[in-house]
Amino acid sequence: MEVKRHFSWRSLVTIAALCLFHVTAGETTLGQTPQMGWNSWNTFKAIINESVIHETARLFGTLGLQKAGYNYVVIDDGWANHSRTADGYLQANVTGFPSGIKALADKVHAQGLKLGIYSDSGILTCDFKPGSWGYEERDAQTFASWGVDYLKYDNCGGFEGMTEASQVRFGTMKNALELSGRKIFYSVCEWGFQFPWRWGGGIGHSYRISGDITASFTNETGCACKTAYCLNTGYAGCSVLTIINKMREISQYGVQGHWLDMDMLEIGVANMTLYQQQTHFTFWSALKSPLIIGADLSRLSNESLAILTNKNIIALNQDSLGKPVSYVETLSEDGLWQVWAGNIESGYVVLLLNEKSYPQTISLQLSNLGLGTPRKIVELWSEKTLKTNAFNGTLQPYQTLVFKIDTA
Ligand SMILES: *[C@@H]1O[C@H](CO)[C@@H](O)[C@H](O)[C@H]1NC(C)=O
Ligand SMILES: *[C@@H]1O[C@H](CO)[C@@H](O)[C@H](O)[C@H]1NC(C)=O
Ligand SMILES: *[C@@H]1O[C@H](CO)[C@@H](O)[C@H](O)[C@H]1NC(C)=O
Ligand SMILES: *[C@@H]1O[C@H](CO)[C@@H](O)[C@H](O)[C@H]1NC(C)=O
Ligand SMILES: *[C@@H]1O[C@H](CO)[C@@H](O)[C@H](O)[C@H]1NC(C)=O
Ligand SMILES: *[C@@H]1O[C@H](CO)[C@@H](O)[C@H](O)[C@H]1NC(C)=O
Ligand SMILES: *[C@@H]1O[C@H](CO)[C@@H](O)[C@H](O)[C@H]1NC(C)=O
Repeated sequence: MEVKRHFSWRSLVTIAALCLFHVTAGETTLGQTPQMGWNSWNTFKAIINESVIHETARLFGTLGLQKAGYNYVVIDDGWANHSRTADGYLQANVTGFPSGIKALADKVHAQGLKLGIYSDSGILTCDFKPGSWGYEERDAQTFASWGVDYLKYDNCGGFEGMTEASQVRFGTMKNALELSGRKIFYSVCEWGFQFPWRWGGGIGHSYRISGDITASFTNETGCACKTAYCLNTGYAGCSVLTIINKMREISQYGVQGHWLDMDMLEIGVANMTLYQQQTHFTFWSALKSPLIIGADLSRLSNESLAILTNKNIIALNQDSLGKPVSYVETLSEDGLWQVWAGNIESGYVVLLLNEKSYPQTISLQLSNLGLGTPRKIVELWSEKTLKTNAFNGTLQPYQTLVFKIDTA
């Protein structure tokens, strides 16, 4: 047993070394900022077809999402036929995708957008379609030949797949994508098993840190794991607030090019208040999570659209430093309000979250955080400039204020 373990650590080192080689060789510039786009799962689950993708791509333009920076249209689970071709290739379900994935990619590309697709590191996907376990190179080549730009790679797939370490299963597809001859963004989705922030940076451009998000701001009924290091991670879903809380332990592991993925957005999906939606978008942005919309764009409210296209908050996500904010324990009041802070290119940013279902009056000193000397302070949602280096005011239930502090 011990010997085996040593061997797998050695192959891990090899994977890490390969990764370093590719970065230094300048072969990949993908993922220099967190990816922005849309994914079918949060609304459509596995019942998906090409007209939904066409319509979504069209709405990227008409709703101003493309202009705001969203460019990946990602098809999640449910696109494939239940069996491979007689030759062993993946094929689309012809009922849902009669034109095929290549034609769909061409159409999406013609609009200046990119197409993402989904597969799984096991024998089967979560929707019991063929997984890529044992077919990694072939499937990566198939995706490349179709003109696919992005792969979300999942963690379902039955006993056989799960007996191989995550590092091996997800690393094999990383290598296959690199051999495919096409630049394909690699979105690792292994639900936070075995603490991927310890190793995920060597494999994916982004990697999920927990099980699926639920369409709720606080409901924890189905959430077995409320902390990042809980052993029972996996599929069980947690709310927006719990996923934010998990990041308190691990935000420091996020590095440019290998983003911690807090999962797809529930803005416009869940029944959330304006302030809950703002808080959701603020934390995903400031923690440098991918911004992948999960809503049905044809039914998006103006309120949700305005949040998803807020220039100030998106700029925080796409900031050139690529540094996630961290939890500031000394300024927070556990269970009542949270303060997070971190550097951005123009200075630093401070987040103040009212974690309660009632309003709270909070005062907060915004200088002396060791992040620079304030020259100008603007609250990004209201765009109001503060006259002093301190804030004293009332936050509504679950509201987050975002102070952008320019330094000299
Ligand atoms: C595609 O899916 C959407 C959403 O589920 C549905 O409304 C529509 O009827 C489907 N279109 C076809 C052609 O199946
Ligand atoms: C699925 O694939 C089989 C075998 O290739 C084919 O006969 C069938 O028509 C396909 N069905 C759909 C819905 O794509
Ligand atoms: C193909 O997709 C349709 C819905 O679009 C579904 O009813 C059918 O079961 C799927 N067929 C296969 C073979 O996956
Ligand atoms: C909370 O989530 C569970 C499922 O995880 C659901 O059954 C329940 O209805 C939800 N409660 C509320 C108040 O939304
Ligand atoms: C949404 O939540 C509000 C309270 O936050 C509630 O009054 C309303 O009924 C909910 N709507 C739906 C459709 O669940
Ligand atoms: C949403 O915004 C559009 C475009 O600005 C406008 O035409 C429409 O009336 C708005 N809808 C609502 C419900 O306010
Ligand atoms: C904050 O403002 C409230 C009134 O809105 C006042 O009662 C309180 O003393 C102020 N706190 C600080 C620290 O200035």
